[in-house]
Amino acid sequence: MTTAHEPQVSEAQISVHWREEDYYQPPAKFIGQANAADPEIFRRFAEERFPDCFKEYADLLSWDSYWHTTLDTSNPPFWKWFAGGRLNACYNCVDRHLAADRSKAALIWVPEPEAEDTRTITYQELHRQVNEFASLLREFCGVRPGDRVTFHLPMVPELPVAMLACARLGVIHSEVFGGFSGTACGERIADSGSRVLVTMDGYYRNGQLVDHKTKADEAVRTAAERGQPVDSVLVWRRHADRCSSQAAMVDGRDFFVDELLTEHRGAVVTPVSMPSEAPLFLMYTSGTTARPKGCQHSTGGYLSYVAGTSKYYQDIHPEDTYWCCADIGWITGHSYIVYGPLALGTTSVIYEGSPTHPDPGRVWRIAERLGVNIFHTAPTTIRMLRKLGPDEPGKYDYHLKHMTTVGEPIEPEVWRWYHDVAGKGEAVVVDTWWQTENGGFLGSTLPALQPMKPGSCGPGVLGVYPVIYDEDGNTVEAGSGSAGNICIRNPWPGIFQTIWGQPERFRQIYYEKYCRNPDSTDWRDWPYFAGDGAVQAADGYFRILGRVDDVINVAGHRLGTKELESASLTVGEVAEAAAVPVVDELRGRAVEMYVALKPGLAPSAETEHAVSDAIEREIGKIARPKNVWIVSDMPKTRSGKIMRRVIAGISNFADVGDVSTLANPEVVEEIRHHIQSDK
Ligand code: PRX
Repeated sequence: MTTAHEPQVSEAQISVHWREEDYYQPPAKFIGQANAADPEIFRRFAEERFPDCFKEYADLLSWDSYWHTTLDTSNPPFWKWFAGGRLNACYNCVDRHLAADRSKAALIWVPEPEAEDTRTITYQELHRQVNEFASLLREFCGVRPGDRVTFHLPMVPELPVAMLACARLGVIHSEVFGGFSGTACGERIADSGSRVLVTMDGYYRNGQLVDHKTKADEAVRTAAERGQPVDSVLVWRRHADRCSSQAAMVDGRDFFVDELLTEHRGAVVTPVSMPSEAPLFLMYTSGTTARPKGCQHSTGGYLSYVAGTSKYYQDIHPEDTYWCCADIGWITGHSYIVYGPLALGTTSVIYEGSPTHPDPGRVWRIAERLGVNIFHTAPTTIRMLRKLGPDEPGKYDYHLKHMTTVGEPIEPEVWRWYHDVAGKGEAVVVDTWWQTENGGFLGSTLPALQPMKPGSCGPGVLGVYPVIYDEDGNTVEAGSGSAGNICIRNPWPGIFQTIWGQPERFRQIYYEKYCRNPDSTDWRDWPYFAGDGAVQAADGYFRILGRVDDVINVAGHRLGTKELESASLTVGEVAEAAAVPVVDELRGRAVEMYVALKPGLAPSAETEHAVSDAIEREIGKIARPKNVWIVSDMPKTRSGKIMRRVIAGISNFADVGDVSTLANPEVVEEIRHHIQSDK
C-alpha cells in the first residue's frame, strides 16, 4: 500500500528564527598557533584560482603517481578530481607516518564501562592490525579491489581497522551505523551487493551489554530476501572470554575474527595503488523515497578534502589530541574521526557509550584525562550536556583550543554555553554545515581569520561558493532577509561521485533543479542543490534553516518520511501514515507519526506501540517517534493527497494556512482538538 505524498512539509518551514547575533573574536593565543592565520590564504583560494586551488589539499597526501587533470568535467555532473593520479588511502593514513611517528598514539579508545582500560593504539600497532585484517579479508574472504564489504560495527577501534584494511585492498567499505536495525543493515547489504558482513557480538551502551550479533542474522536474512547472498559473517568478539556465548554462530557462514586472525599474524599486505577516482566507501543516507541512497565517495578527492579541511578548519596539528565525539557510523566519523585526522598523523580519540552516562561529567573527565585540546560534537549532545550538567565543565581541568558543532542548527543560547562554559571562553567555535553527500565541510568560519557568530555557520569554506536560489533559480541576495534553497555553484574535491547503482537519481536529485544547460560541460552550469533552506546575512554568513525535502533531521540523524511511513504501514491495522517534524528541546527536531486505521478499527494504545515498534524494527531505535497519533482521517486535497503541511502546523502549534480548499476541512479542527489537548 502506498500513501500519496504531496504536498510536502519541510523542516525549514517549521524552523525557529532567531535574531541576528553579535560577533565573537578568536582568542589571540589561538591565532598565534593556527594553521591558517594569514589572510593571504583567501587569495590562494580565490574563485579565479579554481580548481587549481585544491592542489594545496591534494599536496597534503602522498601520491604514487601525480594527476594530469585537476578537475575533469567531461561528463557532468560526474566530476573527476585529480584524474590520472594514483594513491592508497590506508598508506596515507598509516604507513607514511611510521618513519617519524611509529610510537605515537594514532587512536585512543575509551570504552564503556569506563572502569575498563583505555586502549592506546600507536601507528605501529594500527599498521599491524590493519595488515592482519586486510590479509584475512583477501585470503579468507577472497575480496578484490572494487568489491564491497559491509560493516555493522559499534564504536570500537575494530571499525577504523576494518575501514583501513579495506582501503588498503582497494575494497569499498560500507559501514551501517551500529544502532540501525538488522533489517536496515540487510537492505544496505543488498543495495551495495556485499558478500561479506563484519560485525561484533555485543557492545556496551548506558551500562548495558547490547546483543548485536542477532542483528547480523536479521541482516543476512533481509539481504537474501532481496537477492543478495552473504557468504561470510566475520564476528569480532567484544570480550572473547565473557560474551561470545551470546552469538549463535551459523556453521560455515559465521566466523570469530580472533580465531581466523591466528592464521594472519604478522602478515604484510602491500597497499594497492588505486586511481584517484576509485570509490573509497559508501555511506547510506535517507532520501525522499524509501530506498536509501548509497553515497559513493572517491579516494583522491575525498581524502584530499578531509585532510585539507581538517588542517585549516579543525586546525589539527600532528601534536594535538583531537576528539570528535560522533559515531564513526556517520559521515562525520568517517571524515573527522578516521580519514582526516589520521591523514594528518594526529591522535584521534574514540569513545564508546553515551556522553552523559554514567554521569554528565563523562565527556569533560575524558577531556581532562587524555589532554584533549580539540573537541567536536553535535548540538543535540551540547543541549543534553547543558541540561544535565550545566556546571560540570568547571569541575574538570581541561583546556580546549578549538571546538566544532555540526549536524543541526544550534540555538544562540546553546552556542554561548558551549563557548563560555564548555570551552571556558578559551576556544574558537566553528559551526560546520555539510552533509553525507559532501565528504567535508561546506560552510564554516576559518577559525583564526573570520569571527564567530552564534547561530550562523559562516560563509562558504575555502574554494566553495554557496548561493541561495529561489524556486525559479534567481539569486536571493545576501542581506535581503529572504530564505531560499542553498546551493553550491562549483564542484569541490569531497563531493560524492554518484548514488551507488542509481546515477540517474543522483543527477535528478542534486543537479536537475538548477542545471542551466544539460549539454554543457562547464561546471558553472551545474549548481549543486543541497536540499536545505537558508538565509544569508549582509556579511555573507549563512544561517541554515533545515531540510526543504522529505527528510527529518533528528539529533543530527537523517530520517526519510517515506521510510517512516512505509515502516508504519507494515502494521496490519494502519491504512495511512504521515510523518512530520516537530521542534524538540533536546534533539532539535523529533518525528511525530499520524496514522489512520482501516475501516471499523478502534484506536488503541497497542496500535500506537505497534507503530513505534515497527519503526524501530525497520529502521532503528533512533527513529522511534515522539508521539503516534491515531486520527479518524488525514487532511487531504481534493485529489486525495495528504496535507503534511497542515498536520505539521497542528503538531507545532503553528498556523496551518488556508484549509478551505481541502476535501475534508472539518478534520483539521478535529485533529487539532485531539492533539493539542493531549500535548
Ligand atoms: O540539514 C542540514 C543539517 O544536516 C543535514 C545533513 O545531515 P547528514 O547528511 O546526516 O550529515 C550530518 C553531518 C555533516 C544537512 O542537510 N546540518 C548539517 N550541519 C549543519 C546542519 N544544519 C545546520 N547547521 C549545521 N552546521
